[in-house]
Amino acid sequence: MAKVTLTSRVEQLIAMNRAAELGGGKQRQDRQKAEGKLTARERVSLLLDRDSFEEVDKFVTHRCLDFGMQEQQYPGDGVVAGYGRIDGRLVYVFAQDFTVFGGSLSETNAQKICKIMDLAMKAGAPVVGLNDSGGARIQEGVMSLAGYADIFLRNTLASGVIPQISAIMGPCAGGAVYSPAITDFIAMVDKTSYMFVTGPDVIKTVTHEEVTKDELGGAMTHNSTSGVAHFISHNDEECLLLLRELLSFIPSNNLDDPPRRPTNDPWDRVEESLNSLVPIESNIPYDMKDVIHAVIDENYFFEVQEHYAKNLVIGFARLDGRPVGIVANQPAYLAGCLDIAGSVKGARFVRFCDAFNIPLITFEDVPGFLPGTNQEFGGIIKHGAKLLYAFAEATVPKITVITRKAYGGAYCVMSSKHIRTDMNFAYPTAEIAVMGPEGAVNIIYRRELAAAKDLNKQRQEKVEEFREKFANPYIAAEHGFIDEIIEPKYTRKKVITALRMLDTKRDSNPPKKHGNIPL
Ligand code: HXC
Repeated sequence: MAKVTLTSRVEQLIAMNRAAELGGGKQRQDRQKAEGKLTARERVSLLLDRDSFEEVDKFVTHRCLDFGMQEQQYPGDGVVAGYGRIDGRLVYVFAQDFTVFGGSLSETNAQKICKIMDLAMKAGAPVVGLNDSGGARIQEGVMSLAGYADIFLRNTLASGVIPQISAIMGPCAGGAVYSPAITDFIAMVDKTSYMFVTGPDVIKTVTHEEVTKDELGGAMTHNSTSGVAHFISHNDEECLLLLRELLSFIPSNNLDDPPRRPTNDPWDRVEESLNSLVPIESNIPYDMKDVIHAVIDENYFFEVQEHYAKNLVIGFARLDGRPVGIVANQPAYLAGCLDIAGSVKGARFVRFCDAFNIPLITFEDVPGFLPGTNQEFGGIIKHGAKLLYAFAEATVPKITVITRKAYGGAYCVMSSKHIRTDMNFAYPTAEIAVMGPEGAVNIIYRRELAAAKDLNKQRQEKVEEFREKFANPYIAAEHGFIDEIIEPKYTRKKVITALRMLDTKRDSNPPKKHGNIPL
């Protein structure tokens, strides 16, 4: 028998490492590539800083003895897990390996995922999950379901403590979708990823609807129709770069501040274009993103859920090098009305920013909530309340700029002074009232107008009178609901000065187990 030496042991280790790195074998890896997908290991190494990946549980194998499974062992068991760095900051990662039993979740590979989630919680660092899986490992039955539930529990407990980010880079179906759904952000790769609870075949049997996988749960469906996903990328590489960038705005945990970055953009830059950007006429649309771009560092806006509920714009930017969350009505879409989709989109984003110490900057131009039976039957009352609740509950620095309309309940909701916003600015063009002049006049002068001889003239006079009295920011300013009325071109300077002033802000909510946000 050959003598055992350290060298022979090391050779054995190298061979075992190589075997693990082959996943389900060359043939299956080639198939993965032919479908335009990277392998799990390629994904991890592109996501993380060069050579920073430290793998754990590389030799873990499944324990299933049924269906001939004992003959099929792949070291690592279909998930690559460990930790590394992104821009030098610690991040935990797991990547499902579709070449091993279709990346399906076994008892042991769930344990690997749970292990790194537990480590991430102790160290206070984000977890990034790269999902590419046929779901529960069918041969393992309830052991696999138990593994999912163990992950769901950790996702829930980690929510609001460490950032959790999911990329969907292949199939993600059945109950498996619920882990990504609990995480903070979902990025999907166009054409190669899909998410659904029940697939096209089941749907056809049950409801007789015919729908393709992509129509049902493809990247664009979830980015534009369902609002389940936050980002869409053309391919794996683009998706992984996007995740790196997303993390650049976010602190490592809820006790940390978001990472600042030096900027060459002068903090007091005067932006002349803003003085003419917002039309005086309240019914003429403009693109609120132009206002956002003009104000933020280097005009760079990292938009979230760009394709969903376009009437409310959300995303990250930097001001003075400091990451901020932007929430803005979009007058160019549905006149900037708040609706169900926009309210839910905004509420979740506000809560994310608040959980992770990211100040909130609100740009407001809102004519109110969107009218209609669709909205009322769909529960705009409880969904709109989510956004109100989220803003009211948030204790991070909050700054609001009213560019034009701030009407009705939507005025209160959009980070108004009354719900603890620290600095409320308004442009001289702002109109703060219960409703627009036309609607108001039709109601309060209904009887006079009905009896009027020259209806149009009289209505116009009343509208002008109302506009003069209420459709301006000065009454709100007299009451201190607006802290300052500013010339638009100075917005950047004003917002940054307020942000600096709020640098040491401390605020809290009454002690409680948790609130009861209207879900
Ligand atoms: C075990 C699986 C598997 C699974 C795929 N494989 N899914 N093995 N458990 N769930 C294996 C296949 O046997 C195959 O093995 C390899 O992975 C690749 O699968 P293909 O079918 O050849 O790939 P493709 O044609 O790309 O189809 C991918 C797929 C399909 C659409 C995901 O495999 C599929 O429908 N799988 C079953 C999906 C499913 O019903 N899962 C359970 C969902 S319920 P070889 O050896 O040929 O490479 C669920 C509940 C979770 O997940 C509940 C949580 C609470």
